[in-house]
Amino acid sequence: MSELLLLLASGKVRSGEALAGELGVTRAAVWKQIGALRKLGVEIEAVAGQGYRLTRPFELLDGRAIEAQLSDRAHAQLASLDVLRSVDSTNARLLAAPPPPAGRAALCIAEYQTAGRGRRGRSWVAPLGAGLCMSVAWQFVTPPPQLGALGLAIGVGAAHALHALGFGDVQLKWPNDLVARGAKLGGILTELQGEMDGPAHVVVGIGLNVDLPAAAREAIAAAGNPQVTDLRELAGGPAPSRNEIAAAIASALIETLARFELAGFAAFRAAWSALDVLAGEEVVVRSGDRTHSGRACGVDQDGALMLEHEGRVQRLVAGEASLRRA
Ligand code: BTN
Repeated sequence: MSELLLLLASGKVRSGEALAGELGVTRAAVWKQIGALRKLGVEIEAVAGQGYRLTRPFELLDGRAIEAQLSDRAHAQLASLDVLRSVDSTNARLLAAPPPPAGRAALCIAEYQTAGRGRRGRSWVAPLGAGLCMSVAWQFVTPPPQLGALGLAIGVGAAHALHALGFGDVQLKWPNDLVARGAKLGGILTELQGEMDGPAHVVVGIGLNVDLPAAAREAIAAAGNPQVTDLRELAGGPAPSRNEIAAAIASALIETLARFELAGFAAFRAAWSALDVLAGEEVVVRSGDRTHSGRACGVDQDGALMLEHEGRVQRLVAGEASLRRA
């Protein structure tokens, strides 16, 4: 599968015969593999009398290119880097592995996830080549205060990295969404293994929409999800290099984990507030089977959302927030 994708990735038309020859398989086998790729969400056009080409060419993830573009600080803290064509979930994979040594990061990036996890038990679906699915594992020997707010700090790091890449519209929606122009650009999932007061093996995962095919957008809307956007739409043209984005986000995640270990959420709270898309807005927050309404007043020192309603301020530690007017 990945070999065929490599041959098509540039977007040039390739004949079935040439593909079969290069792969050392029959044309029927090529046709079968094309069908399998289409099932994964890859849009492949059949050009009459000529062959096949990708509707949206994409840059395949390349571990060496990503490693070469990491920031010096992140590179110095990198314990391992796995770039996989396909995995169940990058978060699940890192959680199942032994934690990296203290102060070092294990990084896992996948071209495709067969069982990507979202927050609140949902799944995270990203067609092949259309997004970025990345996780970083870290071991906190002594869990820092406000570990529950780690996902918010990661959001700050990721948003700043995207600003530096030219996506100045990116903001954060409590607790763990990256948003831009009223639509969801990505999400963060933090998972933890360990004792309350012992070492904690933490995995932070980020899913980012880079260049979603129309069919994926339609499927997301049909499933009743909030509006989505991607980097291609925000750029108003071709999406930037996926390897460059991967390196920038990975650097931000690793640097954020190191800083959080030293200083906790206190070091990120002001920056988070500056990116808070809900601040001052009337919102509805669904938490379990309860719904809370009120005016969002930022987050407290633990990352809890402060909701003001009829003069009283309520503190919410988990939930799904949406704008009331939406
Ligand atoms: C959300 O629900 O908004 C959070 C989505 C997090 C998705 C990412 S993709 C990489 C990592 N691996 C997973 O299985 N999930 C996270």
